[in-house]
Amino acid sequence: MELFNTEFVQDNNHIFQAKNLVINPEQETEIKLREEVAERSYDDYLKELSHHHSIPVMDVEVENFLKLIPQNGTIIDVGGCWGWHWRKIGEQRPDVKVIIVDFVKTNLIHAVNVLGDLINKQIFLLHGDATSLPFEDHSFDGYWSVQTLQHIPNFEDSIDEAYRVLKPNGQFVNYSLNNQSLIKLIMKTLGKKYHEVGYVDNVFYLERFSKKQIDYIEKVFKGAGQKRYSEILFKPSLKFTVPGSHGFLGMIDSKLSGSLLGSSVARQKSFHIQKKS
Ligand SMILES: C[S@@+](CC[C@H](N)C(=O)[O-])C[C@H]1O[C@@H](n2cnc3c(N)ncnc32)[C@H](O)[C@@H]1O
Repeated sequence: MELFNTEFVQDNNHIFQAKNLVINPEQETEIKLREEVAERSYDDYLKELSHHHSIPVMDVEVENFLKLIPQNGTIIDVGGCWGWHWRKIGEQRPDVKVIIVDFVKTNLIHAVNVLGDLINKQIFLLHGDATSLPFEDHSFDGYWSVQTLQHIPNFEDSIDEAYRVLKPNGQFVNYSLNNQSLIKLIMKTLGKKYHEVGYVDNVFYLERFSKKQIDYIEKVFKGAGQKRYSEILFKPSLKFTVPGSHGFLGMIDSKLSGSLLGSSVARQKSFHIQKKS
């Protein structure tokens, strides 16, 4: 893979790292927590994932994104963790390559288990930070990030990097937790807390997708993008994770995604924009 030149090293777990690795100290406590969690082992990765993400919903979102990627294109997945979004890429788009970046190395070791033979053929793993990507300007046809930028206190730096590494006409998408107006109202009426922005237990930062963030993306990309809502039925916070696995409710949820009607209850909000030529 030509993007990994002599400025990178690759370890025995297939993970690349820039020789001058830069990790932003602002997320130090989050990294420590995630490294601890990542020490666990899993017999069934997809079963575990289905408690935290809706697999059928995200499979459709991936398919939609891949349609926008040109022949022989390269995608960067920022905060890609176990890399599960790309497990079917061999059948879907054998011409496309994906670089998965995560600042928790142990998560990338799990990605090797999830992605098997795709590693080092179509999928490449990089230990790195979203706010300092070790690639030249105009390197990627697609920038994909799911529930990662919401944890970065210096969100603007990650957007500046996304814009820099995308080629002209490159596609950007970010999925973050949605600020659900109806759920927020219900929680507040019941006297319960609804986290919108700030540190959770002084350990990690979480900012639900805000207007301020979208305004910043549009300013950097010098244009207007589209909002989309997904995971409308899937509600892990209410312990309703049945739509997270393939099945009738998962299929319905994937069909509901995108509808603006879901904006007040959807768990995820995404923002899609193309870099101008
Ligand atoms: C909530 S998980 C989402 C994982 C994955 N995108 C998915 O959809 O399953 C967030 C991931 O982003 C990574 N992450 C958070 N901040 C990061 C940063 N600044 N640079 C690189 N990775 C980061 C974490 O280590 C974690 O693997």
